[in-house]
Amino acid sequence: MDPVRILKQIWRWFDDLTGFSQSLGPIMAHPVPRARKTRWFYVFGSATLIAFLVQVVTGIALSSAYVTGSGQAYDSLRFITSSPIGRIIRGIHYFGASAMIILIGLHTIRVYLMGAYKYPRQMNWLTGAGLLLFTLLMAFTGQLLRWDQMGFWTAVVAAEQAGRAPLIGNWLGHFLLAGNTVGGATLSRFFAAHVFFLPALMFLFIAVHLYLVIFNGISEPPKAGRPVDPRTYRHWYHSLLEREGIPFWPQAAWRDVFFGAIVVLAIFVLALVVGPPELGKPPDPTIISASPRPDWYFMWYFALLSLIPKWSERWVIILGPLVFGLFLILVPLLGGRGERSPLRRPWAILIILSVVFVIAHYWVVGIRAPWSPRLDAQPLPSSVVGVADGPIADGARVFYDKGCEYCHTISGYGGIRGPDLSDAGDRMSAAQMATRIFSGAENMPSYRGNLKPEELASLLAFLASRHRVQLPTPPALQGLARQEAAHGR
Ligand code: HEC
Repeated sequence: MDPVRILKQIWRWFDDLTGFSQSLGPIMAHPVPRARKTRWFYVFGSATLIAFLVQVVTGIALSSAYVTGSGQAYDSLRFITSSPIGRIIRGIHYFGASAMIILIGLHTIRVYLMGAYKYPRQMNWLTGAGLLLFTLLMAFTGQLLRWDQMGFWTAVVAAEQAGRAPLIGNWLGHFLLAGNTVGGATLSRFFAAHVFFLPALMFLFIAVHLYLVIFNGISEPPKAGRPVDPRTYRHWYHSLLEREGIPFWPQAAWRDVFFGAIVVLAIFVLALVVGPPELGKPPDPTIISASPRPDWYFMWYFALLSLIPKWSERWVIILGPLVFGLFLILVPLLGGRGERSPLRRPWAILIILSVVFVIAHYWVVGIRAPWSPRLDAQPLPSSVVGVADGPIADGARVFYDKGCEYCHTISGYGGIRGPDLSDAGDRMSAAQMATRIFSGAENMPSYRGNLKPEELASLLAFLASRHRVQLPTPPALQGLARQEAAHGR
């Protein structure tokens, strides 16, 4: 028996019963616009789909060993990570999520810049906007399922921030947490959203999205001076395909396959080499000094919320997403016709550039995390302290030992959560400083009972010796200072 013939026979039998080649064949071979120069820009959508499928497969694998329950979730993830296969699967799921976020972002930017959301593809855009929202929600809910310090505190912070939204705040916070505090019910709620509710919606939206891509056809590359007119577009598009269309498979789609394979390979290599994110400590609601840090894709938003003035927070929290959502909905509804080329839509380029700039800026800020104590601060070098012993040198040591340096900078050393104290001696009297040290502040612990009298004395001596212009001035600068004085400056 010839195995090839047997396989062929099985296929014929299967095809006869399902009509696969009759229904799918024409779809695979349907003509698409020839886009010689821009074809590679079209691969992000299919790559997003591939990353999604990677997430489905690894997510199912993870959920088969993950235990939902505030007592066990963390340990079950520990257990998963302890086996080599579990570690790789967690790694793939993590980098797959990152890839999906990047790819859906690139896809959205590409579609927006090329004006591909214009007639007749407005509904393609709207379903895509839904998918973008669901993807972000997946990333957010997944982060919490890790159920370590970070995941736990991210949920707390998110709920607190949701709680500040006007009118619906209380209800929203309560709904997010499934109660008044983060607990087992919160975990169940996020788990259900992450593995049932959101994926089901995504499958539905992806089905409609793909159907629309085929029904409306893939957009042709935009050309300046060729605006979209809904009355003539479809007719024109079909004649374009007749004139110079190429079959989707394989002439156009090989790039999608090639790029998708690279994406999968990159995810796999990163999972293997870098591995999944470390699990932090198990969640402990009593540790209030934990500084939550979301996964990289939310870092910029987190930084933004941490840095804006307190009074504006509730507006940014509610208005930011609202404006973004409204923008996504209005783009195809108001701009459904006219020029598609980015060359004729300079504001589109400007919008993308400013969004990218804001995200990049706050992302960098988020990585530096000025609001969280710098726990790896080193003792102040003697060049900064100025003296080797005596109360000032003792005070510098106390400043480091008691963790002041986690939050305060002295001459460029230390954290930036609290005010810079390099010139504390100029700005404050010893009594003022002692009051602050004893009473603490909103973001500074009180040191009452935590400093011996002699420690406080040397600490104050050290701080009092901090001046904007450190005295004595080094000889080289003294000459300069004399010159400046002579010129009357
Ligand atoms: C967890 C971070 C943190 C730690 C640790 C910390 N501080 Fe502060 N500190 C702050 C913040 C934030 C402020 C600003 C408070 C305010 O005025 O609202 C502040 C304010 C001060 C001020 C007043 C500065 C000014 O310009 O108004 C002094 C002085 C000070 N801290 C000294 C210390 C000393 C000394 C220590 C160690 C014994 C210390 N701090 C530990 C966060 C911290």
